[in-house]
Amino acid sequence: MYDWLNALPKAELHLHLEGSLEPELLFALAERNKIALPWADVETLRKAYAFHNLQEFLDLYYQGAAVLRSEQDFYDLTWAYLQRCKAQNVIHTEPFFDPQTHTERGIPFEVALNGIATALQDGRQQLGISSGLILSFLRHLPEEQAQKTFEQALPYRDAFFAVGLDSSELGHPPSKFQRVFDRARSEGFLTVAHAGEEGPPDYIWQALDLLKVSRIDHGVRASEDPRLMQRLIDEQIPLTVCPLSNTKLCVFADMKQHNILAMLEQGVKVTVNSDDPAYFGGYVTENFAALHEGLGMTAEQAKRLAQNSLDARLIKG
Ligand code: ADE
Ligand code: ZN
Repeated sequence: MYDWLNALPKAELHLHLEGSLEPELLFALAERNKIALPWADVETLRKAYAFHNLQEFLDLYYQGAAVLRSEQDFYDLTWAYLQRCKAQNVIHTEPFFDPQTHTERGIPFEVALNGIATALQDGRQQLGISSGLILSFLRHLPEEQAQKTFEQALPYRDAFFAVGLDSSELGHPPSKFQRVFDRARSEGFLTVAHAGEEGPPDYIWQALDLLKVSRIDHGVRASEDPRLMQRLIDEQIPLTVCPLSNTKLCVFADMKQHNILAMLEQGVKVTVNSDDPAYFGGYVTENFAALHEGLGMTAEQAKRLAQNSLDARLIKG
């Protein structure tokens, strides 16, 4: 089944480039940039990948991202991810990057963006993988900083097509970012947001009604609210679900508890994605395989999930 799932043509719509930083590359970049790491070796670092919630993961994720310094580093990170896409027949990807994770520690905005954009361009030309970048704001920081980040990004507007919202969800509702999302839409950008990962269904309503998102990232807690479920079904609003992420961060106790297939059968436009594959145990195919093993996903369901991902692309080819 793994090889068959791997060969299915699919799109990835929920992937944090910083979350694709494998421990081996993390160590190599630390050496290149002469950065001392608190872990003795790759194995010790991998052992630290045991999380009880989103925040525990984010603390390590931001620490890991600190090895990214030069344009070449961001290129290498993105290129390594695109190689994985090629190996797993991901024919289209719409990754996130978090500019504030880098500008906050003194890396110029354009250093990160140029490295990523150049690799995505090479991916189109050399690997035939179409893509579009989503600039994501860190919701644990004040809205003013998101606004500053957006203004900083505007001169590079051709390099990204949408804005997103990620980081610590609880206590940071979408309403906090209504103005910067209004501004982004007025400049012609699409919007997406993480909502209903750890946060309540109300955050999903806010993302739809206040931020006017085209997709919900995660959204698994929608199943607690029948009215919201009906809206997602009626309007065919895609959810970018990340099964391995959800079990690693204890959103669900184990894969057998995951609601993605139940939502699929109810008519919700769910898709399968890897979120932060270096930290959660696998890329898109591993997420599909985990659904087969843990939930008994059939080949027919896998085909529908893969087709949903292609249908839910926001930019076409
Ligand atoms: N940043 C990287 N991965 C994330 C996730 N799963 N939720 C929120 N913010 C993130
Ligand atoms: Zn995410």
